[in-house]
Amino acid sequence: MVNNKIKNICCIGAGYVGGPSMAVLAKHCPNIKVNVVDINEERIRLWNCSDLKKLPIYEPNLDEIIGKCRGVNLFFSNNIKECIEQADMIFLSVNTPTKTKGIGAGYASDLKWIEASSRQIAEFARNHTIVVEKSTLPVKTAETIKSILNSSTLIKKNIDLHNINKTFSILSNPEFLAEGSAIKDLENPDRVLIGGEDEESIKKLSKIYENWVESEKIIETNLWSSELSKLVANAFLAQRISSINSISALCEATGANIKEVKKSIGTDRRIGNKFLEAGPGFGGSCFKKDILNLVYLSRFYGLNEVANYWEQIILINSWQQKRISELIIKKLYGTLSEKKLAIFGFSFKANTNDTRESPSISISNHLLDEGARLNIYDPQVSGKQISENLVDKEIDIFMNPLEAAKDVDAIIIMTEWKEFNKLDWDQIFSLMRKPAWIFDTRLCLETDNLRNIGFNIWSVGSNNEN
Ligand code: UDX
Ligand code: ADP
Repeated sequence: MVNNKIKNICCIGAGYVGGPSMAVLAKHCPNIKVNVVDINEERIRLWNCSDLKKLPIYEPNLDEIIGKCRGVNLFFSNNIKECIEQADMIFLSVNTPTKTKGIGAGYASDLKWIEASSRQIAEFARNHTIVVEKSTLPVKTAETIKSILNSSTLIKKNIDLHNINKTFSILSNPEFLAEGSAIKDLENPDRVLIGGEDEESIKKLSKIYENWVESEKIIETNLWSSELSKLVANAFLAQRISSINSISALCEATGANIKEVKKSIGTDRRIGNKFLEAGPGFGGSCFKKDILNLVYLSRFYGLNEVANYWEQIILINSWQQKRISELIIKKLYGTLSEKKLAIFGFSFKANTNDTRESPSISISNHLLDEGARLNIYDPQVSGKQISENLVDKEIDIFMNPLEAAKDVDAIIIMTEWKEFNKLDWDQIFSLMRKPAWIFDTRLCLETDNLRNIGFNIWSVGSNNEN
């Protein structure tokens, strides 16, 4: 029986992963003090905001948990040094975007934030500390973290006798939550994966999860299997999306219907019906980054066929976006100059305000390059965030979808927000220039109804006779 002495947890990085995952952990472990720290002062200020509607990330039911735990056993602060000093266990949830320059640019992850936070841990930690990788990381990152932590203890031993017992144990515990359903996924995960070499540390982390997750769902592996599994899980999920999107194009060309094909193949239990929604391609911070990591890793080991195989998923994803943009231009008589179009939905999927790698960005850019002026509306993404993604572009941002529809030639549904079906489409039709087009890239509208109003409709993966 392991004596679980974890009393104090520090999570470095108060983002989409760190914030919700620590909120759920704090909720289920009232005897553990959880400090979530970040270098970003504005982010921490928003996490501490008394108005729970102003939390820095939008995630259904997150506000409720924050309301209950914050100030009780869950704290958000910029005091990184003190929180590291107090911690028995530290989660690393910092960002790891794709490198933009140097070796591996465009493929490998930039580990500078991992390195910086590892150095902070090396400097401030006391006694024995378990360091848990939570960010999605390339395989063998634990080695890097280990090397930074161990080298610093060697130096410290010579100069600081108080820290002579400073030791570290590294675990990989990748997070599988999907944005928009983060709380549901954290409360009831399909599995919890813990990779590591030190049995005692694995058990300590496992015990924490057992406060709300059945022990059968906790999988223990070695460090590298854990790191690789996360990349592979995301690659497999993304692969399904590129597969269905490639077939959506074939449906449009042949007169088959993607919804029918999806149903027909999804009822085969070996295939399953999840992750078969055709659309404008996947976005989000993980899929592209993780596949690029996988491609980089495969090339590094001389497995070029493997690398090319996985890379094709990303190429199909970009192609789908280009294909949709070109099709919109074609339907609008081949030119967008002097035309106003409305983009409905800017987040990369519904129920989140995250816009990282959102297909809305690339499709907006294609349309803007053709001379369109865009009216953009999203129920959760702030105007500031939209502008930051489309700097110096011909865009207007609206808080109200009806105002955004005024005088536009087309509405392009980019995110499957539920509220889009409930809009007053009769009024929207009357506000638009004719012929009034709707391009439903998410198959989320009841199109029969809209056709009756008078709209011209294009939906991804269907025959689209207008
Ligand atoms: C993903 C993984 O699902 C999650 O396990 C991992 O921890 C992080 O990456 P996330 O990016 O938050 O989560 O959202 P997800 O629901 O996977 O959607 C990713 C993208 O794929 C979105 O743009 C979504 O709209 C798109 N998608 C998803 C489709 O186009 N079709 C589908 O059938 C499913
Ligand atoms: P994710 O989706 O992986 O959670 P985010 O970008 O939402 O990614 O969050 C990562 C957070 O990590 C950011 O708020 C960033 O400011 C924070 N961060 C990055 N490096 C450090 C660091 N060295 N110390 C503390 N916080 C950091």
